[in-house]
Amino acid sequence: MKKEIFKNKEELSLYFGDLLVKLANEKDVLNIALSGGSTPQTIFDVLAKEYKDKIDWNKINFYWGDERIVPPTDAESNYRMTKEHLFDKLPIKDENIFRVKGELSPEEANADYINIIKENIPSKNEVPVFDLMILGMGDDGHTASIFPHEMQLWDSENICEVATHPISGQKRVTLTGGVINNSEQIIFLVTGSNKAEKVKEIFEKSGDHKTYPAFRVDSAKTLWLMDEEAISLLK
Ligand code: 6PG
Repeated sequence: MKKEIFKNKEELSLYFGDLLVKLANEKDVLNIALSGGSTPQTIFDVLAKEYKDKIDWNKINFYWGDERIVPPTDAESNYRMTKEHLFDKLPIKDENIFRVKGELSPEEANADYINIIKENIPSKNEVPVFDLMILGMGDDGHTASIFPHEMQLWDSENICEVATHPISGQKRVTLTGGVINNSEQIIFLVTGSNKAEKVKEIFEKSGDHKTYPAFRVDSAKTLWLMDEEAISLLK
């Protein structure tokens, strides 16, 4: 499992930004699926501040690996978080943003996003292929919005599924494992001591690692960018 370790989120963000520059220079179009939650916020802030003129942002199409079924103006919305920390600070056009319509019902949002992906993302082995899949990991080992109690969603034949947060019951739309693992490249962004136990179990293949959706991500394609807190329990 490839990993790079950083003292803090700022150093991690600069490393990620340099990777994005390299990727954007190699391709005419880059289809990226973003993660949500809190970890990306610092990374997006650094990208907006330090990489505004280093990347041709018109080349990048922005999707999400998962989204909460809330309006795009809701504090819980991954789209809103990304808009505030990234899109509003860069010359990114609306036509390069492909969001899950969280204002719809879960089923309608899911069907709509599946159509958006089918219409815009090329396929490889008859499965949509993202150039870059950015993932986070919850402290329960979930990734995207596939939680341990719904592991069956990982193996769904559908491009996306409606998921349910195990504690809040919040409905979400998530990419499924076949799409996630079909990506050209996958980057995990994992920071904080609250992730250390699951990082240990996944990297050491110990404990309940097989029950964590994050463990199902294709390690051959995956680079884990982590801070020292997240790896603090690794031998
Ligand atoms: C979401 C995510 C989710 C997230 C992890 C980690 O919508 O919440 O996409 O998979 O990446 O829960 O979240 P934090 O970065 O907030 O720890």
